[in-house]
Amino acid sequence: MDIISEINKRKTFGIVSHPDAGKTTLTEKLLLFGGAIQIAGAVKSNKIKKHATSDFMEIEKQRGISVATSVMAFDYRDRRVNILDTPGHKDFAEDTYRTISAVDSAIVVIDVAKGVEEQTKKLVSVCRMRNIPMIVFINKLDREGKDAFDLLDEVETLLGLSVCPLSWPVGMGQRFQGVYNIYESKLVLFRPHSKQTQEDVIELDPDDHESLEKHLGKNPTKQLGEDLGVINQIYDPFEIEKYLNGEQSPVFFGSAVNNFGVKELLDCFVEIAPAPLPRVTEERAVLPLESAFTGFVFKIHANIDPKHRDRIAFVRVVSGVFRKNTPYNHIRLEKMLRFPNPTSFMASKKSIVDEAFPGDIVGLYDSGNFKIGDTLTEGEILHFKGIPSFSPEEFRAVVNTNPMKRKQLDKGVEQLMDEGVAQLFTTLETGKKIIGTVGALQFEVIQYRLEHEYGASCSYDPINIHKALWVSCEDKKAFEFFKSRRKRDLAMDKDGKLVFLADSGWAIQMAKENHPEVNFYEKSEF
Ligand code: G4P
Repeated sequence: MDIISEINKRKTFGIVSHPDAGKTTLTEKLLLFGGAIQIAGAVKSNKIKKHATSDFMEIEKQRGISVATSVMAFDYRDRRVNILDTPGHKDFAEDTYRTISAVDSAIVVIDVAKGVEEQTKKLVSVCRMRNIPMIVFINKLDREGKDAFDLLDEVETLLGLSVCPLSWPVGMGQRFQGVYNIYESKLVLFRPHSKQTQEDVIELDPDDHESLEKHLGKNPTKQLGEDLGVINQIYDPFEIEKYLNGEQSPVFFGSAVNNFGVKELLDCFVEIAPAPLPRVTEERAVLPLESAFTGFVFKIHANIDPKHRDRIAFVRVVSGVFRKNTPYNHIRLEKMLRFPNPTSFMASKKSIVDEAFPGDIVGLYDSGNFKIGDTLTEGEILHFKGIPSFSPEEFRAVVNTNPMKRKQLDKGVEQLMDEGVAQLFTTLETGKKIIGTVGALQFEVIQYRLEHEYGASCSYDPINIHKALWVSCEDKKAFEFFKSRRKRDLAMDKDGKLVFLADSGWAIQMAKENHPEVNFYEKSEF
């Protein structure tokens, strides 16, 4: 097969949701359809279970599992589908943000009873920043939930998405009868426990009330007719161009655990979802069709066994063909590297690959060469953009509790930061090392891993920081003035970028008022 066909058949996407909305269940059902797994229950959740929030041994175990479930590839209707797993737990949100940089589209799962939840809002806002096309799947229709129109309103107002329902539920909970597939003009009758058969999918014009009534009964048919009429009036018809530009989100209804509505979602997804998209670098945009290989590291996974301290760097192929044992330019290290055992994640099993195409993810064994965001090319100097750090929400100062192990601590902290476990800020005035994370859980993970993997020990001092804001200023004099006045509050991030550590929202406001020439950013790429 030629490279153009290889590229066009690839669909690389992520499922984003608030924990418990049904991401793992939906992933599993998609894999069943793709033949990647044979039985339900084969996909172990990558999520950190609710009860385990302070049990980091459990986290470590789950981290082990999550290597296998980080990327799952399968073939479906002549397409190669790559699902990138995104941790739902809020303390791992950074990981999810970075994974979003490697996908070309997303499916947003929403629980019909809970509606739009906090984590969904955050993740969708990151997808929107990148204009990623999104399909919404409203899950758990076998349970009582919110009114479908109210839910669509929530999606529009709280997520800022312009929706277009492509299926519509008939009843819900006890009265749930199925969905009308607007996209394909089919009535799909609900059978619990995946008992649906071919006969339950009936091609039916939405105006054929008589036939609808035979299957649904009088009142539900009347209701469906009214609902479809309202949909026609208030929502714009589906336009693929709008979806691909991130301006319109198709919505499907179903029940993942009952395997209902999932096939409709997948069939539509493989048809409309974008093929691998170009990516921007500091130098230029890179198109998938370019013949030279380029790619970037968006995730690093450490081996949890301390005897084998190797890591897997996950590389998204952006252009050309990645080939085993071929020397590639590691731009940051200015070094040619070759990879004898690149790994693919086909059918949720790891296996060595000879080549990988744009849209694919390859896992490279790494002994410490990679940082998140690193670029690989055949030679050209390029730096991929789009993996910013966001201001952490929790900060603590690192204290070395074993002076004999200073070096181990420094190395451990540096490598964990390269993996993207947390962010490190070094204060300008005192050189104090401050770790910033999205959630408190990371501090325990870091402490545990420093001890078990690097033989170093540390404790944390509380520190009063509200936010870390990256700063820039065109006016050199004004910048110098700012730096001299706020020296005590300034630090360097791991890439040497200047950061303002504000102890309150008020401090940010004051700094902005007193230094109007200075720009303050909540993320490291601006
Ligand atoms: P997550 O990855 O988004 O966190 O969610 P996950 O798939 O683990 O689903 C969370 C819970 O919701 C699970 O129940 C799952 O079985 C259930 N669920 C998923 N889809 C549906 C659905 O369509 N209808 C209903 N009624 N439930 C659904 P659990 O009890 O937490 O776990 P488990 O013991 O069933 O695995």
